[in-house]
Amino acid sequence: SNQKVSLTSSGKRIDLSVNCQTTAEKKPMAQNKMLVFVPPHPLIKHWVSVLRNEQTPCPIFKNAMAELGRLLLYEASRDWLPTITGEIQSPLGVAAIEFIDPREPVSIVPILRAGLALAEHASSILPATKTHHLGIARDEETLEPTVYLNKLPDKFPPGSRVFVVDPMLATGGTIVAAIDMIKERGVDNKNIKVVSAIASPPALQKLSEKYPGLHVYSGIIDPTVNEKGFIIPGLGDAGDRSFGT
Ligand code: PRP
Ligand code: MG
Repeated sequence: SNQKVSLTSSGKRIDLSVNCQTTAEKKPMAQNKMLVFVPPHPLIKHWVSVLRNEQTPCPIFKNAMAELGRLLLYEASRDWLPTITGEIQSPLGVAAIEFIDPREPVSIVPILRAGLALAEHASSILPATKTHHLGIARDEETLEPTVYLNKLPDKFPPGSRVFVVDPMLATGGTIVAAIDMIKERGVDNKNIKVVSAIASPPALQKLSEKYPGLHVYSGIIDPTVNEKGFIIPGLGDAGDRSFGT
């Protein structure tokens, strides 16, 4: 699916020159294009709607973010986590089995603070993952990202698969800084999946130009980013609303 796609949100048409594919489609994927997945699941729509509501109180907001993250990580791990097959004795017979290969390294990189809420269930739904925290704050004036905490390994083990988790892809500055740091530590684009609640066209454009082969999973794509760097209509400040600050 190499065609230009049009998405509509709030009555506005958005043209993106990146590949979009829902997980329901099983077409062969282009190797050198970035792919954006907006999984067509009613629960994903539900939790995005709860997040958007300005009336949603902090604890419910945080819980909605965690549930959305669970669903998106579930979709993002489809056809991606390596498995081993074999046989096992059940109480009533021999059964063919398939389970996640514990030798294949999988990491979660939550971008603090808001990524903590979206990644809350990651370690319970994905067997044998490591969590490497990355604290990045965007300057409110310049919108430039600053890294204030880096728990990435100096080098990721060979073959590592990395989920980068940040709810908001606005100007894209933060996610680009994060992916550059992960790539410097030995991970290929094709072994990185971005998981976000709401993505904007400028961020997706930036990612598709810089990282061919990258996969992005998002709850929804919104039409614009305002001059203060907020996604419109978006959901406000995901970090502040998750933690009540
Ligand atoms: C927000 C958001 C992203 C970033 C997106 O974080 O959670 O990390 O901004 O903006 P960008 O795409 O324009 O770079 P923020 O800096 O507010 O930190 P927080 O999560 O601690 O609130
Ligand atoms: Mg914030």
